[in-house]
Amino acid sequence: MYEQELAATAQAMVAPGKGILAADESYSTANKRFEKLGIPTTEEMRRAYREMLFTAPGIGDFFSGVILFDETIRQSTKDGTPFTKVLLDAGIIPGIKLDAGAKPLAKAPGETVTEGLDGLRDRIAEYYQMGARFVKWRAVIAIGDGIPSNRCIKTNAHALARYAVLCQEGGLTPIVEPEVLMDGDHTLERSYAVHDEVLKAVFDELYIQGVETDQMILKPSMVIPGKKNPQQASVEDVAQWTVKCLRSRVPAAVPGCAFLSGGQSDELATAHLNAMNTLFKDLPWQLTFSYGRALQQAAMQTWNGQDTNVAAAQKELYHRAQLNSAAALGQYQPEMEKVAA
Ligand code: 13P
Repeated sequence: MYEQELAATAQAMVAPGKGILAADESYSTANKRFEKLGIPTTEEMRRAYREMLFTAPGIGDFFSGVILFDETIRQSTKDGTPFTKVLLDAGIIPGIKLDAGAKPLAKAPGETVTEGLDGLRDRIAEYYQMGARFVKWRAVIAIGDGIPSNRCIKTNAHALARYAVLCQEGGLTPIVEPEVLMDGDHTLERSYAVHDEVLKAVFDELYIQGVETDQMILKPSMVIPGKKNPQQASVEDVAQWTVKCLRSRVPAAVPGCAFLSGGQSDELATAHLNAMNTLFKDLPWQLTFSYGRALQQAAMQTWNGQDTNVAAAQKELYHRAQLNSAAALGQYQPEMEKVAA
């Protein structure tokens, strides 16, 4: 019933030069980031912060969509304009995080399963009414001694697929996000092997559940060695290995892969995306960004909870968004970092 709308939304989300701002941090994640900077962890501060982000002049040139959190989709600017309207007026599609977070997987130390399937059909209907047109569900796969287990991968893939088909039934384009964490000391090769296994399991389950792959977006992590591995990979190697993995596992019908940043520095997240788009011109899907930290870090630090810093913080966000838009087109140059925000 919604097929055309779902596919059109997916195409718009990954339109050339556009990407997605992930601003769907839960209460605890948002508060942790505020605490580090000494910003009060109140509902009003979270609202004021999101108002700063969403009203940044010109961001509609670079963001196709913004992922919101439940608290945020119900909030408005100080003068009473709902955030969903602010985004739509800027030409940005409002999206919403649907999962209820990664919880310990039973009898599996160090592994998690993402919860939130109960009552999901009703929540989808409510968010559709509120103006959301796409949604996100993040599965988390850790690499370590003896993990990930096949059970962890299968269980998360199954939940992702059940979420995605329910969303398509209810008219919301799903972002399918299987994140393989960068924590640990694993090698680039191990990261590749785990990404390969995870993506295979995810697309197998999507097929079993009847998810239409032209009506979704994949949000993958990049193939990167663990943060603690002294042998880090070059930008070009990350680009080569990541694209190799996607090429062998992601159907050509998927309109786009919008990467998460996963704890990479702002510059590296941009450089990796740019390298993929520079080295590979013949890919079946768009490669773009759906970053959280790598888009927000500089802006949040500059804002620091002060009204007087709003304009400067918005310039930081604009600058990062512009650089990532260039990377999505393969037109980023490191010198562009130095241009004043
Ligand atoms: P990061 O880019 O900070 O990893 O966040 C993206 C995201 O939406 C994780 O679910």
